This record gives sequence, structure tokens and C-alpha cells, in this order.
Amino acid sequence: MKIIGTGSALPKKVVTNGDLESFLDTTDDWIVSRTGIHSRHVISDERLEDLGRDAALKALADAGQKPEDIDLLLCSNVVNEYMTPGLGCIIAAAIGLHCPCIDINCACPGFIYALDIADSYFKVGKVKNVLVVCAEEPSRMTSWQDRATCVLFGDGAGAVVLSEGEGVRSVRIGARPDPDKIWQFRPLEPTPFVTKTETGVPLQMQGREVFRFAVTASVEDIKAVLAEAGLGVQDVDYYMIHQANLRIVEGIRTRLGVPEDKFPTNIADHGNSSSASCPILLDECKRKGLFKPGDKLVFSAFGAGLLTAAALVEW
Ligand code: COA
Repeated sequence: MKIIGTGSALPKKVVTNGDLESFLDTTDDWIVSRTGIHSRHVISDERLEDLGRDAALKALADAGQKPEDIDLLLCSNVVNEYMTPGLGCIIAAAIGLHCPCIDINCACPGFIYALDIADSYFKVGKVKNVLVVCAEEPSRMTSWQDRATCVLFGDGAGAVVLSEGEGVRSVRIGARPDPDKIWQFRPLEPTPFVTKTETGVPLQMQGREVFRFAVTASVEDIKAVLAEAGLGVQDVDYYMIHQANLRIVEGIRTRLGVPEDKFPTNIADHGNSSSASCPILLDECKRKGLFKPGDKLVFSAFGAGLLTAAALVEW
């Protein structure tokens, strides 16, 4: 399969570190030096499905495809307002798709997990075109009183259209199951029968351990997808790393020994938008004209689960 179209959509509200200083015990200097984030887009009066719809429509237009051309929608999402139906079905209805919709909850590597699932559908000949939409609102998962987590995240949606072809050369997904490192608990409706205590807990994260996992797992994944394709780290034109923390990106870059200009970033004005991060970065870089045909792009993402994934794409 190959990527034939990209799109993204962001909430209009921009929250700067200065805005956070007004109600949190934090400083612009701390956030910038520890994360590289200056501001983030946060959902206010939009609905997440509207961002997903807009990103999907832009990707379809970019690909020159119509809704009826799409054989499968894969939607990556951690939380949204609906328990059911899946966000993918809601987006499909909004853009007039009539194909099967599968939602996945694979946290930050969700985009690459979706690529892996799509790859299998292409390989068995079940699809000709697949739409992947990653729509996330982590701002609704954190406590805005918890300075260690809320400063890190931003909302948004990114989408790609995949078609038959040779572009995506290697995809690797993996897990080191350890749910206690990043988690959130959302209580369900009570029933007359439930006797256990169920109290909502906002996003919890063991930051330092997640940081170490992210750098180690990403370097391992990147080396593995490159080895599978018989390439070295210097053969890659751009490393498209999940935008979780600029220091994580920098840690990966220095361990690989690759120059800075091969690591495009947008974390400064986005923060971590979970699985939407990679496709938003891809769309922005593409629209800036960064890529030329034949460029080799490596995607790498890591997050709750703990899950991890990487992919090698020839543009
Ligand atoms: N402003 C000011 N101080 C803050 C703060 C903030 N927003 N957040 C935390 N601190 C404080 C802590 O309370 C702690 O204070 P103490 O030493 O008095 O206890 C101090 O800063 C150091 O905290 P620590 O957590 O050790 O900092 P860190 O250098 O590890 O950076 C993260 C914290 C969260 C930025 C970093 O660990 C990280 O990015 N981890 C990965 C997170 C991630 O990417 N998760 C998603 C993966 S998909």
C-alpha cells in the first residue's frame, strides 16, 4: 500500500504556557526546557468528530478520492464523548462512507497500528483504498490541576488515504504490557448489582519511566524496520517521531547519531496529540513541500499500554 493523501484539523483555541501560568503552579521556562512545548490547541466548543471529519475530508480531497472509493475506515481514538457507536462510524456518517468501520484504542502508536492493520487487508486483496483517521482529545483525560500531565497534551485529528502500491515498505507493532505506567479510570453507569467502588481517576503517568521506555523502544523499533528493509540509519530522509516531548525526540536522534534536520517537529505549538500526532506532522510537512518522491520516512510512536510501533514509508 502507499499513502496517497493526507489531512489534518485542529481546534481553534490555542492555550499558551503563559495561559497555564495563570492557574497552575508552573512556568513557561519549566515547560519549554522540559518538553519543548510553547502552546497547544485544545478543544473548546468543537466536537472531536468534527475535527475527524475535517481531517478525513481534506485527506480524501488531497488523494482525489470520493467517499464511495473507500473500502475500509480505520479510526484511532482513545476517548471521545460516545461510548458507542465507535468514533469511526460517526465520522463515516458525516462524510458519507458506506464501508466497514473499525475503531482501535492503541494510544499514541495508533496511527502505525492502523497502518499495520490496513497492510494486512491490502495483502489479502480485501481493499483497494483505506481511510485512516486519528482523532484525539487528551485534554479531556488529564486533570487541569495536575501540572505534571496537563501541560503535555493538545488535541487534533490527522488522516491519510492509503491505496494499492509499494510505498509502505515495513511496519512493526509491539507491546510491553504494563498498564500502570499511563492510565485513566472512567467509571461506568451504576447498576443495582455492582458492589465494587468505582471512582473516576484522571490521567496518571509515571513520567520518567515512560520517557526511558519511549527512547529505548523507539530506537529498537527504528533499527528493526530499517534492518528488515536492508537500510541503515543514514539512508532515511526524515524521522517522523511521535511528538510527545522534544527531549524524547532528541534522545532518539542522538542515540541514532542522525543530524537534526532529519527530525521535523511541531511539538512547540501542538504538544502531544496522541495517535493524531504522527499524521498531523506528516500532513504539515507534506503541505510545506518537505518531501520529494522516493524520500524514505520512518515513523515511530510509543505510549500507553505500553505499546510501540514503527513504519518505513517510501514517499
Ligand atoms: N511545572 C513546574 N514543575 C513541574 C511541572 C510543571 N508543569 N511538572 C512537574 N514539575 C515538577 C515536579 O513536581 C518535580 O518537582 P520535585 O522535584 O519538587 O518533586 C520536578 O518538576 C521534576 O519532575 P519530574 O517528573 O522528575 O520531571 P522530568 O524532568 O521527568 O519531566 C516530564 C517530567 C513529564 C516532562 C517527563 O518525564 C516526560 O516527558 N515523560 C514522558 C511523558 C510522555 O511523553 N508521556 C506520553 C507518552 S506517549
